Amino acid sequence: MIRDSKAPNVLPLVDGYGRRHSSLRISVTDRCNIRCFYCMPENVVFKPRDEILTFDEIERFVRAIVPAGITKLRLTGGEPLVRRDLHVLVERLSSVDGVTDLALTTNGILLADHAKALYDAGLQRLNISIDSLREETFQKITRRSGLDRVIAGIDAARKLPFHQIRLNAIAMRDITEPEIVPLAKFAFERAMELRFIEFMPLDADGNWETEKVLSGRETLHVLEREFGRAVPVSGNDPAQPAVDFTFANGGRVGFINSVTQPFCQSCNRLRITAEGQVRNCLFSTSEWDVRALLRSGASDEQIVELVRESVSAKKRGHGIDSDSFERPARAMYQIGG
Ligand code: 5AD
Ligand code: SF4
Repeated sequence: MIRDSKAPNVLPLVDGYGRRHSSLRISVTDRCNIRCFYCMPENVVFKPRDEILTFDEIERFVRAIVPAGITKLRLTGGEPLVRRDLHVLVERLSSVDGVTDLALTTNGILLADHAKALYDAGLQRLNISIDSLREETFQKITRRSGLDRVIAGIDAARKLPFHQIRLNAIAMRDITEPEIVPLAKFAFERAMELRFIEFMPLDADGNWETEKVLSGRETLHVLEREFGRAVPVSGNDPAQPAVDFTFANGGRVGFINSVTQPFCQSCNRLRITAEGQVRNCLFSTSEWDVRALLRSGASDEQIVELVRESVSAKKRGHGIDSDSFERPARAMYQIGG
């Protein structure tokens, strides 16, 4: 019998609700060069470096699970660009057979320095977080300065032929309402897509409250007052959490309404934290220790089995609005957005 040893028949990662997992978000560090209050505490203690997966370990993990149907990778943090030589990891991951989409989420501070190396290494798509275009508000949110560097990062990235560059803004009541229209104008002028993300209970300080969530619906109304009626884009991909709208001026805005309109029923995502813990949800309260396997000579099959256990244990949804909602012990920077 002829067997192709390079193409093992690995079963797909399907959970108890029939959701097939094809997307992996990889946090490469818990460190960051700013301190957004919705993500980090002001006085943060980062993990010691030896607890963080090496590039070799990340690549090994990816190569082990891609045959089970993972096709999309996104690098996150903390801030991924504070990890030295990130482009080397990008190059290694972009050469993995079966990976068709390789993206990065960044705060943009260091992007001007790294955009070219990342593009050359095979990075296809970028999400750049920008919640405000005013330095004062930027500082209130990030507890640091640097808006000009983020804008320089966006400009540098736009000079390169990335498949897509998207801007991500968190919408928060009383803080970012005045930013909505200026951000949209900024994005429209550059023909960039903008996405508003509802504030989720993943801040380290535990100050999240339902009242602080500025819903996608409310944000859309603010935009419609300025730009006229928004038309939903037909054929929105159900596996994509964003619902997109276009305006008469050709601008396009997406909404990730994680709190008011959860998209858990079509979630196809898995996550691995910087210390190699697999999570089946942002709001997971359990983790599966892949690092221990990677550091004890386990086989690829054992790694895939552990991921499969995590997928099998995935809950139907996060239930933020239910009484039984349990906040995860980790904050966003320790998970990877
Ligand atoms: N709620 C929603 N989005 C968040 N992010 C960080 N913390 C939160 C939160 N509490 C976003 C960042 C970035 C991505 C990594 O996750 O703004 O866009
Ligand atoms: Fe850093 Fe991103 Fe967290 Fe802001 S949201 S502190 S940029 S990791």
